[in-house]
Amino acid sequence: MALENKLGITDSSELARIEEKISKVKALELFEKGLLDTFEVGTYEGLAKIHQYLFGEIYGFAGKLREVNIAKGSFRFAPLMYLEAALKNIGKMPQSNFEEIIEKYVEMNVAHPFREGNGRSTRIWLDAILKKEIRRVVDWSRVDKEDYLLAMERSPIKDVEIKVLLKNALTDKIDDREVYMKGIDASYHYEGYGAYKTESLKSER
Ligand SMILES: Nc1ncnc2c1ncn2[C@@H]1O[C@H](COP(=O)(O)OP(=O)(O)OP(=O)(O)O)[C@@H](O)[C@H]1O
Ligand SMILES: [Mg+2]
Repeated sequence: MALENKLGITDSSELARIEEKISKVKALELFEKGLLDTFEVGTYEGLAKIHQYLFGEIYGFAGKLREVNIAKGSFRFAPLMYLEAALKNIGKMPQSNFEEIIEKYVEMNVAHPFREGNGRSTRIWLDAILKKEIRRVVDWSRVDKEDYLLAMERSPIKDVEIKVLLKNALTDKIDDREVYMKGIDASYHYEGYGAYKTESLKSER
C-alpha cells in the first residue's frame, strides 16, 4: 500500500514513479527560478521550504514535521519528543567552513524532520549552505551510492568518512545547470529512483 498522497494513488510503485517525475521538475524549478536563494540558508525553516516546494503537490505532510518516530536499519532518527528542540539547536550551529557545514548536515540527517523525502531535500539544503558560505557545491554525480550510504550510516558515530567523501567531490561550478541536474539524478539514485532524467523533464511543462 502506498503512502497516503494527494493524488489518490494506492500502488506504491506507481506513486514512486509519479513522485519522482513531479518532484524532479520541482527541483529543476528551484534552480531555474532562483528560489533557493530566497530561502533561509542553514535552518529547518529553509529546509521546510525546499521540502514543501518539492513535494507540496504530492503529500499533505510536505514541509511539515513528521508525527511518527522513524528508523533506518538499526538507527533511530531523533525521537519526536526531542525533534523541535533538536531543529532549533541545528539552526544555531555554525556554518563558516566545510567541516562545520558537514557537521550540521550530519545533525540534520539525524533529525530527519519529515515523514518522507528527507534524503533528497536535505542534500539540496546542504548545497545551499556550501554555496553561500564557501562558494562550492557537491558534484553528487561523482559520489558513489554505496560509499555515500555507508558513510552516512556511519556519520552519527564518526563523520570523517562523509567529510572525506564530500570534500573530494566539491566543485566551484556553483551555478552550473549540468552539475545541478546530474546532482539531482544522483541524489534520487541513492534513494532508489531512476525512471527519469532531470534533463529530459525540463521541457515538459
Ligand atoms: N542507517 C542510516 N543511518 C543514518 N542515516 C542514514 C542511514 N541510512 C540512510 N541514511 C541517510 O538518510 C537519507 C535518506 O534516508 P531515508 O530513506 O530514511 O529518507 P527518506 O525520508 O525516505 O528520504 P528520500 O525519500 O529522499 O529517500 C539517506 O540519503 C542518507 O543520507
Ligand atoms: Mg524515501
